[in-house]
Amino acid sequence: MTDEERRATRERLAARRGLETTVYGPAEDSELLVEAAVELVGPTDLVLEVGTGSGHVAAAVVRETEATVYASDINPHACEQAGARGLETVRATLTRGFRPGVFDWVLFNPPYLPAPEKSWGDWMSAALTAGTDGMAVIDPFLAGVSEVLRADGEVLMVASSLTGLASVEETARKVGFDVVTATSDRFPFERLDVLRLGNNQEA
Ligand SMILES: C[S@@+](CC[C@H](N)C(=O)[O-])C[C@H]1O[C@@H](n2cnc3c(N)ncnc32)[C@H](O)[C@@H]1O
Repeated sequence: MTDEERRATRERLAARRGLETTVYGPAEDSELLVEAAVELVGPTDLVLEVGTGSGHVAAAVVRETEATVYASDINPHACEQAGARGLETVRATLTRGFRPGVFDWVLFNPPYLPAPEKSWGDWMSAALTAGTDGMAVIDPFLAGVSEVLRADGEVLMVASSLTGLASVEETARKVGFDVVTATSDRFPFERLDVLRLGNNQEA
């Protein structure tokens, strides 16, 4: 990570922590995931949004596609907020506890910022940071998500250059996914991609 990227990470953390204390509100990464999902998800699809936060992404997918969407989060405050929007909400760690082989799509905007030396140990840290390499949540998610997907099911996951796009893609390929970029955006010192992960998909 360059000095500029380190500074960008610190600024992102500081800005978000000034805004919210318990639940991650919609940001540019959320909107990028919405953009990719509404383009690809169909009205008869069964969708799981992992780490739903405020429920913004799941609600947009319901509204724009009419798909059936379940929203889950490890954070009880997030489940409460998403549930208040009328979403079917489940408190869960990643995809644990969901029935195997049922979802057409799993969506995830994960915590991906490499953690600074100081860790706050609160819900906003859990929403934003993921270990010193930013992979602490992405790694177990990618290792387990295939279990809940149908054979032709796919994943849409946000990835950041602040984590390292190449290392996220390499991890996804190692667990057996084909990887294409569904959509992408650039910000000062950061690029965000929504990765589309599946098997035998057309690029
Ligand atoms: C970057 S926020 C995204 C929130 C929302 N989906 C959005 O795009 O605005 C990441 C979310 O993942 C949740 N999360 C973090 N670790 C998790 C885990 N192990 N299992 C389930 N959810 C987790 C956090 O509580 C947080 O709500």
